Amino acid sequence: MTAVGIDAIEIWTGKLKLDLAETFAPAQGDDPGKYTKGLGLHASSFPDVYEDIVTMGANAAYRLMDRKGLEPDDIGRIDVATESSFDNSKPVSTYIAGCLEQVFDDDFHHANKGERKFACISGTQSVDDAYNWIRAGRNRGRAAIVIATDTALYARDDPGEATQGAGAVAMLIDEEPAIVELSTEQGYGSADETDFLKPNQQFPSVDGKRSVKVYLARMREALDDFATVSGSIHPDDYHMIPFHTPFPGMVRKAAALGYRHIVRGTDVEDVLAEEIGHQPVREAFDSEDAFNDAIREYTDALTETERYRDWYNQAIEPTLEISRHVGNWYTGSVHLARASGLKVAMEQDIDLAGEKLLVASYGSGAQAEVHAETIVPGWEDEIAALDIDDQIQRRYDLSFEEYEEVHDVHNHAMDAHIEEDAEELTPPEAEFVFDGWGRMGERKYRYVE
Ligand code: COA
Repeated sequence: MTAVGIDAIEIWTGKLKLDLAETFAPAQGDDPGKYTKGLGLHASSFPDVYEDIVTMGANAAYRLMDRKGLEPDDIGRIDVATESSFDNSKPVSTYIAGCLEQVFDDDFHHANKGERKFACISGTQSVDDAYNWIRAGRNRGRAAIVIATDTALYARDDPGEATQGAGAVAMLIDEEPAIVELSTEQGYGSADETDFLKPNQQFPSVDGKRSVKVYLARMREALDDFATVSGSIHPDDYHMIPFHTPFPGMVRKAAALGYRHIVRGTDVEDVLAEEIGHQPVREAFDSEDAFNDAIREYTDALTETERYRDWYNQAIEPTLEISRHVGNWYTGSVHLARASGLKVAMEQDIDLAGEKLLVASYGSGAQAEVHAETIVPGWEDEIAALDIDDQIQRRYDLSFEEYEEVHDVHNHAMDAHIEEDAEELTPPEAEFVFDGWGRMGERKYRYVE
């Protein structure tokens, strides 16, 4: 069977930075440790006044096509995953294709375009759609572009405000990919949940504490489901595990629970038992509370063992590096985690060809999905092309007052003219920008040289 997977990646971060420890925490009257240690976040990326999901997505996609020397005819599909859409009918992919047609001679009239919605997991679902389209032989030799783009903004003073972010990840999905090949096997954990939703409103209604619990419950279900098709999962089988990362502290919890779950009954649990005992079993306890206390105690002890820490430092920590500086990108977040892990491995000269990733996606509402990816030889050449570190460095560092103004500019409930009249904080250069509204209320864009 021909390998299908991710052939190239481009990342575009919002051009403003909100420093959480230096700027946000003092204004909120919080200890900076809540952000840097508790949530594991140092800063959020924020869109400048001329940026939105279309500009960020189009900028990432344009750079991807330009770097790979692709023309519109090479692309048979453009899928956008987002939970920040501003249009209930016209898909963001048409806006993005319209942008790209300003800079290419040809058009995308024969490409299938769509928009996927299922909270943060829709980026992964769009990759699935592209994979299936290629596998079904309907692609006529062409590749698909999947763009995960979001402005993850919360209402002011919502607890989620600490985990905001904005950016886009564009991925080229193709045969004989240059970065990772996707497994056919997948595991799902999916249930009707009310943890995070946007019923026709821009900013989410969130039950933050519940969303953390639902993430963990659905992820565990997806792992179990994956094991039924892949065989039992051993931590040594996967070099890294990129998780959906709303904030690194969430992944710290998921990793501990996931590890405890997959080593249960294995040789790893036996070795660990010499130090911290065996995992508590329900039958040994009189009540659910006593069992939960014992589980918590065991998990705390587990995360202190050298074996666990070594595993965490290899499999998890590298995947969180970018996220710590940009916040939550919703649909792009798990794809950022993969890119982050590969980038750190490249910088450390680790030979990953043939190694496997276990990729764990999640979307509120709620669904988790787990699949494996095999890293292909030459992956480091593609990853070396990323300039996300430079982009992160170049961001404009917002004062709290500027942050408040920019948040208002991006608030759809405010007067639309705020957005048109707002002063930009960074000069646009070689990128698509928002250019006001058209006669039917559509958003317009232009390319700035
Ligand atoms: N030093 C170190 N850690 C600190 C700290 C300090 N000074 N102050 C707080 N913390 C820790 C807390 O103990 C907590 O860690 P824990 O969960 O391991 O106990 C963490 O920092 C967050 O603090 P908390 O008081 O729980 O934050 P919060 O009530 O403001 O909300 C979320 C946290 C995640 C619920 C909130 O940001 C949110 O709603 N986010 C959006 C939803 C989301 O992303 N959900 C994830 C699943 S998709």
